[in-house]
Amino acid sequence: MNKYHIITYGCQMNEHDSENIAGLLEAMGYVYEEDPYDSDVVVINTCSVRENADKRFFGVLGQFKKKRRNDPDFILCVCGCMPQQPRIVEKINKQFSWVDIVFGTQNIAKFPELLEKRIRTGRRQREIIDNNPVIDEQEMKPKRMFRHKALVNITYGCNNFCTYCIVPYTRGREKSRMLQDIVREISCLAADGVREVMLLGQNVDSYRDAVGHDFADLLHAVNDIDGIIRIRFMTSHPKDISDRMIDCFRTCDKLCHNIHLPVQAGSDRVLKRMNRHYDTARYLEIVDKLRAAAPDITMSTDIIVGFPGETEEDFEATLDIARKVRYDSAFTFIYSPREGTPAARFTDQIPDEVCHDRFDRLVDVMNSISLEKNLEYKGRTYEVLVEGVSKTEDNAYAGRTDGFKLVNFTSDKTPDEIIGTLVNVQITESKTFSLEGVEVERN
Ligand code: 5AD
Ligand code: SF4
Repeated sequence: MNKYHIITYGCQMNEHDSENIAGLLEAMGYVYEEDPYDSDVVVINTCSVRENADKRFFGVLGQFKKKRRNDPDFILCVCGCMPQQPRIVEKINKQFSWVDIVFGTQNIAKFPELLEKRIRTGRRQREIIDNNPVIDEQEMKPKRMFRHKALVNITYGCNNFCTYCIVPYTRGREKSRMLQDIVREISCLAADGVREVMLLGQNVDSYRDAVGHDFADLLHAVNDIDGIIRIRFMTSHPKDISDRMIDCFRTCDKLCHNIHLPVQAGSDRVLKRMNRHYDTARYLEIVDKLRAAAPDITMSTDIIVGFPGETEEDFEATLDIARKVRYDSAFTFIYSPREGTPAARFTDQIPDEVCHDRFDRLVDVMNSISLEKNLEYKGRTYEVLVEGVSKTEDNAYAGRTDGFKLVNFTSDKTPDEIIGTLVNVQITESKTFSLEGVEVERN
């Protein structure tokens, strides 16, 4: 039996690509193997959004060199965002020429053919095209990570060209799938037992299909699918979020009261240089509208510190907006220059020690807000969709509230009985990044 292993870096888009790649490999008769060094085929699905992702990738690549040398039948494949950059493919071909297969973010459907060719001819395969039509998801049979929740692409690529970001260069121009195709895919998932869908796009708010359906239309259509009980989406872009979309929090009963709304910075001057197309006043107006539509909505965000030219005053404006919004959670990043993006050429880069100092101060503020918010949950009972057994405790399960809070809790039920169902959990302990509780009969 041939065995495969996939190593995935980066965002949920990449995770879903890996699910598709796993599905393709299993259709070819491969079986999943936990240990990459005991596998016949290893796929490294890469991310290039920040520099440490780059460095880690080349480190991991190096670790396979010996296995590749000692085992002529072993096949190492690299895909994802890294090979979408010509300089990376050059580096692979020069320094890691023993890598067997390299393919891009838009060539996943081609992977079985490349693998078959590599096995038949023994020759290495390279296939990176970035103007392919939208992947036909209906043709894909992803091997999903969870039985009860699924990732569903609604758009590919990005047209926004935030000046720090490499994604528009690695994932190409934005393309929306047809609403009907998305609905058909989710209906099949629901029939297969999926209860929660996460709609994925770099900017879901700019979704528009060839016949003019927008993101609000799509949410309504998904809300009507029997069997689905929770709808999530990411990522929202403040520049494109519409009142019609915000209103969906009132009108679509399955839409979870949670939003990931990257702010990136709290200084209007920095936002402008980031090419974000909104200012803090507009951002705060959206937050108010969201909270009016769904008072219990939870919010998370992405923030970059140390963007070129960021002054202490700019940074304090970021702390300020974080305190105003009071996010439930935040992903905080130190600005990392990405070759080929406009910001990498800005001459006023911020010294490392200033970045690290600001980063630490920001994390302290964000974490204390997260904890304060989570403390409000203590003693109350929430509906939790059970995802699996808890990673941290025996006889415990993990699940998410409607607002995406991670809850570790105890229950007398068996995994077969409980996983994939909604249960009521009374919160007994609040931590910065999770809640703890115990299953109770009802509210
Ligand atoms: N440096 C630091 N953070 C970045 N992000 C994107 N590009 C960069 C970069 N060059 C962050 C943004 C984005 C998240 C996915 O990654 O905050 O929202
Ligand atoms: Fe990158 Fe901006 Fe597109 Fe998000 S919206 S993927 S940050 S360019």
